[in-house]
Amino acid sequence: MEEFEERTARILVRINELAGYSEDLQCLTRTFGSPAFIEAGKKVFMWMTQAGLHTSIDNIGNIRGRLVSADKKAKTFIIASHIDTVADAGKFDGTLGVIMGLDLVENLIKSKTAIPFNIELIAFSDEEGVRFHSTYLGSKVVAGTFDMNILNKKDAEGITLNEVVKFIGGDVGKIRGDAISPQEISGYFEIHIEQGPILFERNIPAAVVTAIAGQARIELHFKGVAGHAGTVPMNMRNDALCAAAECILQIESIAIAQKNKVVATVGKVAIRNAASNVIPGDVTCSLDIRNEDEKILEEAMQKIKQVCETVCNNRAIIFEWELIQSAKPVACDERMNQLLEKAISDSGYEMIKLVSGAGHDAVAIAAIAPVAMMFVRCYKGISHNPLENVAPADIKASLVIAEKFILNFISKYNA
Ligand code: GLV
Ligand code: MN
Ligand code: MN
Repeated sequence: MEEFEERTARILVRINELAGYSEDLQCLTRTFGSPAFIEAGKKVFMWMTQAGLHTSIDNIGNIRGRLVSADKKAKTFIIASHIDTVADAGKFDGTLGVIMGLDLVENLIKSKTAIPFNIELIAFSDEEGVRFHSTYLGSKVVAGTFDMNILNKKDAEGITLNEVVKFIGGDVGKIRGDAISPQEISGYFEIHIEQGPILFERNIPAAVVTAIAGQARIELHFKGVAGHAGTVPMNMRNDALCAAAECILQIESIAIAQKNKVVATVGKVAIRNAASNVIPGDVTCSLDIRNEDEKILEEAMQKIKQVCETVCNNRAIIFEWELIQSAKPVACDERMNQLLEKAISDSGYEMIKLVSGAGHDAVAIAAIAPVAMMFVRCYKGISHNPLENVAPADIKASLVIAEKFILNFISKYNA
């Protein structure tokens, strides 16, 4: 078998192996801090160690393997993605970037390539933010921007993030020490599936990412009055769920009306003490809103907030808007992007540039370093879905491109 085919086959074996670590036996679900998440992390730790990396698990559960440069004063270049998943997930989102990164580093070791910087391969612990609704927990710790207040946040079972950190073996008192300073870091590279249909439609295996959309995650709290479903007349109710439902439809209309690619999603609705014979008195919804332009994003958020307040006023519902997290749009590094563009063209593929609507750990790391990302085509653009798939030929093509990029980046680094 040809070298890159062999490497692709090994990448797929590892991706399939990690897909076996799930907290749900019926599907792939690996959220931050679950036993399956811990076991998957141990597996990645073992692979990194076997590759010859100095490997550690930091206090937020990131698996970090360092390949040290002979230059004692060298900075550190990060190659990374994440190993947590959404519920009922596909097996490539995040994992592909970690496992391809591992393969690239293994081959730098094998080929005895002299590296002008230390390379740190990181499997970030929480990019999806499923459990605490607050994304980039792992990469924010590395960037030194982790908000310690969030440690008090509770998951659906009432377990705090603080408790989860302890459960995975972390020490919250040492989280600050896991950061890399901006002076120490020379750059960041992430490989990720596109999670959209452009590459599939254009029949191209990979693309350069120019920017990543900004996003905000908000919790919408609706407080009405719980009551008996059989006795309270319709005109005397303060139904929190009806208010939430009206707001959800308004949110959809506002995003559609913006006409500048604002996307807004209510993906979670929690009804407190839900029962068929109880008028809902307390409802919480998640809101995820994104755009590549900070101003447009802010305007859309304010509009949504205002409309929700009006809906709730009219229905005598107490409304609370809780901003859980926000991330500004991020521009990828021009210099690294030029090298990536060249790697794609030199590998014989059409070069296209994409803006990412999905969030990535690169957003958090952009606070301290120039970042670059390469997208890999996934089947019909399907993601956050068990049907998510990447063809072996596309993994191989992306590996060829990524290796060209890394070697070129290394050779030009001090030039
Ligand atoms: C991550 O997948 C996100 O964009 O929410
Ligand atoms: Mn991802
Ligand atoms: Mn994802």
